[in-house]
Amino acid sequence: MEIHKYEKAWLVGALVLIFFFIGTIAYVSAVVGVDMVDDSGGALDVDEVSEDERFADPRVEQVGEDEYEVYMIAQQFIFRPGTHDTVDVPENSEVTFYVTSIDVIHGFQLVGTNVNTMVIPGQVAEITVEFDEPGEHGIICNEYCGDAHADMEGLLVVHPEDEWEEMQGGDG
Ligand code: CUA
Repeated sequence: MEIHKYEKAWLVGALVLIFFFIGTIAYVSAVVGVDMVDDSGGALDVDEVSEDERFADPRVEQVGEDEYEVYMIAQQFIFRPGTHDTVDVPENSEVTFYVTSIDVIHGFQLVGTNVNTMVIPGQVAEITVEFDEPGEHGIICNEYCGDAHADMEGLLVVHPEDEWEEMQGGDG
C-alpha cells in the first residue's frame, strides 16, 4: 500500500535524524572533547562532605615530585581554598583539582587556562592542568548561584621555583 510506503519512509527518515543527533553529541564529547559536566571525580553525598578525607580539610597536597592535588569546596559565595587564602602551587607542576559544592551549582574557571567546569552538589569535578609558567590565575564562578554570584572569586598563584622552595623551607 502506498500509505504504508510513505509511513516507512518517514520512519526511516526520523531514525536517520535521531542517529545523526546522537552521533553529533557523541562526536563532540568523545572526539572534540567538550565536557558539559565533569563528574569524573565520582559522586559524594553532600551531607558527608565534612567527613570526606579529601574535603574535610580543603587544601593543596603534594602527591608526587611535581604533582599536586587540590581539594576544593565551592559554596555561596567562596572557594575554599581560593577566596580567603590563595591556592599556591609551584611552576612546572601538574595539578589535579577535585572540586565539589555543598549548596548549589557553581562554576570553576581558571582564567588563562582551559580549566572550566561546572561544580554540582553531590558530584566531584576532577580536572588536571599543567603550570609551566609562574603567574596568577583568577578563579571565577560562571554559573549563576545567588545574589553575590558576581563576587564569587578566588586566586591561584603559580610560584617561581626558588620562591616555592623558600615557602616550603619556612615554617613547614
Ligand atoms: Cu558560585 Cu556563581
